[in-house]
Amino acid sequence: MTGPVPALEDRAVACANRLLEADSVLLASHIDADGLTSAAVAAQALERAEIPFETVFEKQLDEAAIARVAATEYDTVLFTDFGSGQLDVIGEHEDAGAFTPVIADHHQPADRDTEFHLNPLLFGINGASELSGAGASYVLARALADVSSTTATDGGTKPAETATTATNPRADNRDLAALAVVGAVGDMQASGGELHGANAKIVEEGVDAGVLETGTDLALYGKQTRPLPKLLEYATDVQIPGISNSERGALRFLDELDLELKRDGEWRRWSGLSSDEKQTIASALVQRAVSKGVPASKIDQLVGTAYVLPEEPVGTELRDASEFSTLLNATARYERADVGLGVCLGDRDGALERARKLLRDHRRNLSNGIDLVTEKGVTHEDNLQWFDAGDEIRETIVGIVAGMAMGNQGISRSKPILAFAEKSANPRSAGKSADAQAADQSGEATTENDGGKLKVSARGTHALVRQGLDLSVVVGEAARAVGGDGGGHDVAAGATVPKGDEMEFLERADEIVGEQLS
Ligand code: C5P
Ligand code: C5P
Ligand code: C5P
Ligand code: ZN
Repeated sequence: MTGPVPALEDRAVACANRLLEADSVLLASHIDADGLTSAAVAAQALERAEIPFETVFEKQLDEAAIARVAATEYDTVLFTDFGSGQLDVIGEHEDAGAFTPVIADHHQPADRDTEFHLNPLLFGINGASELSGAGASYVLARALADVSSTTATDGGTKPAETATTATNPRADNRDLAALAVVGAVGDMQASGGELHGANAKIVEEGVDAGVLETGTDLALYGKQTRPLPKLLEYATDVQIPGISNSERGALRFLDELDLELKRDGEWRRWSGLSSDEKQTIASALVQRAVSKGVPASKIDQLVGTAYVLPEEPVGTELRDASEFSTLLNATARYERADVGLGVCLGDRDGALERARKLLRDHRRNLSNGIDLVTEKGVTHEDNLQWFDAGDEIRETIVGIVAGMAMGNQGISRSKPILAFAEKSANPRSAGKSADAQAADQSGEATTENDGGKLKVSARGTHALVRQGLDLSVVVGEAARAVGGDGGGHDVAAGATVPKGDEMEFLERADEIVGEQLS
């Protein structure tokens, strides 16, 4: 067969064959929406291939985390949504015979390679905008189904031409495309309102398999779950004067439309409107924006491609890829990756209800964080801007806050933004006591500080990337210059730096950004 991403096919098949040789596999993944969906895709593929496995999540794949992995009994470790950037350290354990790594990732690789390494960047595919960790895991999952069905039907010789699997999306893992798309959206790969490249191929497979629907729609966050006035009030990516951030304005705007937008006294939600009703509201919004002088390029951003999961109930977070991914961030970034994984695997053990509780806290934390940064303001250097959140914003969400605050008063979108936060220890999220988990759900950093280190998160825009910005290089080099380390993507990256060296780190980072944008 040819997988969804032909350039990756040979490597995917090699990785799949290696997994099938294993008696059991340790699956290790990253604690964000993309990491969770990566794990969920891989877990279902392993389950279906009848390969026994156990799943663990790590906030960061640092030396200590890799040592923990190496100390397990497992001889085969599948890393998803991380691993490439740590291949130097992983390679040492591999050389020592601790385990064989199989990696499905999309981060910038370290200066070392390994045999079972599936990463779009090795094949000229952009890992920040064309394929996510969940996408790489999906490519692997498709190969795994293919290789295992071949092995099962004709003893591993050659693919059966008349395989009946093509008609059943579960048999060839195409149903997992929906999760792959949630991961890509969660990593903000839908630039300019839609997914591109390899991601778009995965979308096509998902549509064919009946697990995805796409369509042009209002590009606002909350179409499934927010009552209409809240949908409009909170939509601030494109500022519509008199509506964005204004409860009264949003209500007045809706009241003036000649539509029945309430039912039993309750405001309806976008997802429940007819297409005529949607059309009426969207046109009125665009008209309002035009009349208030919002530039055409901004108005274009009001509309984008919506990725809908038609098998999920209308009005739930799970039906919209963007809301689904936020729901997952609300679990994994608060050390409850188990809850997020349960949601991805079909609401195991009431996971959805628990995730929704976490989401309420997550939203409050994001909103408080954004307010804090906007009030305190950022410091402008020549080529970048930065703030120090101290222990007031959790290190796992400080990057999200930084990205969402860009464009607010005093926070430019024409310079990258860097944020510091106190680093907490790196506990494994699985296997933590319920008490410890409950104590961790506030937005503030936990008291368990990782002594002398600071977390850095960096965010840019696609426009800056087009001008040459690569934040993975910026924070990676600047951190290494002061004895820390970091990496990530061109548009979003992170690092750890020793406390006390942040000014030197910033100077170096400012210099590198200057060189990249000149
Ligand atoms: O681990 P990693 O790949 O998952 O995380 C990607 C991060 O980069 C996410 O938090 C995502 O929101 C962020 N990002 C961003 N802007 C982009 C692309 C990614 O803030 N344009
Ligand atoms: O991890 P990343 O940087 O993508 O996180 C940004 C998150 O904030 C996204 O998951 C996005 O869906 C969420 N969001 C939100 N409310 C908004 C806009 C975005 O919760 N109004
Ligand atoms: O933590 P944050 O959301 O800011 O991470 C942004 C990106 O940088 C993610 O892709 C993450 O995996 C990467 N990162 C990294 N090394 C670090 C911290 C973050 O590669 N020390
Ligand atoms: Zn990712």
